[in-house]
Amino acid sequence: MAEHLTVGRVAELAGVSVRTLHHYDEIGLVQPSARTSAGYRAYAPADVERLREVLAYRRLGFGLREIADLVDDPATDAVAHLHRLRGLLLEQRDRAGAMVTAIDRELEARARGLGTTPEEQLTMFGAQLYDSIGAAYPATRRTEPRIAARVWEALGDARTVLNVGAGTGSYEPADREVTAVEPSAVMRAQRGPDAAPCVAGSAESLPFDDQSFDAAMAFSTVHHWRDPIAGLREMRRVARRVVVFTHDASDTGWRNRFWLSRDYLPEVAGLVAGRPPVEDLAATIGARIEPVLIPWDCADGFFEAYWRRPEVYLDESARRAVSIWTRVGPEAEQRAVSRLRADLDSGRWADRNRELLSLDAAELGLRLLVA
Ligand SMILES: C[S@@+](CC[C@H](N)C(=O)[O-])C[C@H]1O[C@@H](n2cnc3c(N)ncnc32)[C@H](O)[C@@H]1O
Repeated sequence: MAEHLTVGRVAELAGVSVRTLHHYDEIGLVQPSARTSAGYRAYAPADVERLREVLAYRRLGFGLREIADLVDDPATDAVAHLHRLRGLLLEQRDRAGAMVTAIDRELEARARGLGTTPEEQLTMFGAQLYDSIGAAYPATRRTEPRIAARVWEALGDARTVLNVGAGTGSYEPADREVTAVEPSAVMRAQRGPDAAPCVAGSAESLPFDDQSFDAAMAFSTVHHWRDPIAGLREMRRVARRVVVFTHDASDTGWRNRFWLSRDYLPEVAGLVAGRPPVEDLAATIGARIEPVLIPWDCADGFFEAYWRRPEVYLDESARRAVSIWTRVGPEAEQRAVSRLRADLDSGRWADRNRELLSLDAAELGLRLLVA
């Protein structure tokens, strides 16, 4: 009986009323499985675990009936609930972050006596992609030292470096004078205290004079730009050297090269359709194109990073830090994840991808453009 808790103690710890707990008991949602010797309800560890799930789903806005279905699902164990709750909370946090940013922007505009259009007032519900997913980014997106070394080598002897679409600054070289440009307020807010100074702005219109920097770099960002060609011209204008890390999605074999998009998420093909081919990007800045292999234990959790660690894609937090998963929509995401989980359990994934398991690095279309 020692590890059992009384209803009063559980109410106190959980910050809910005893009345609420009695109600959950009466409707069969969380029924304490024991009684004290004096006949009071007593919660066993498993009851507390179930109550914790119920309260967490409740806080996320689920109705009691929906919650009963969720916590009674025999296919979902405590760890799966924790993963799901974590993902839902991150999503909620991102949405709240995006709304705060939009509100701040409107308050600032109003304080300056500027009006806001109906369209602007609604932006808080349809916020820019990285204002809505950005908060999940630092969980798995960090510097991959082997790829960083390639970028820094390509920067040559540049002393002043502009980092365009800088995000949280993962690939900024510590031994040069870096200036960052980043349009998303959520991303800018997550830059560390020692990160390079960051200007709010977009690649397509860089707020700098011609040739202000020795080099300009852009890492894993060009595919997000409204007009990649205009952005690259801007980089060329403000710097004498340009280094871009991007991917080549132009050749027809590309979409079949990575098992995740080939077998589970064909929607990726639709996302890259219409983008300028990598040769056009390179030609815009007069760059040579170098392939970049992805190490099997890549530290930066971008889309292709876990090519030899497929189980990581089942983790909601790994997916939330990659915009593709948000862009394909929740239905495609859930379908892809369920199929992958089933294939990992049945051994089908391993059968199909056996040749990958002996590779230390994979060629999945990542490219460095150096001009
Ligand atoms: C995948 S993140 C990469 C961030 C960072 N370069 C890194 O490697 O960690 C893409 C970034 O591009 C930014 N971005 C989106 N549109 C942009 C634009 N038009 N100009 C510059 N950056 C942009 C996003 O806000 C986001 O921070």
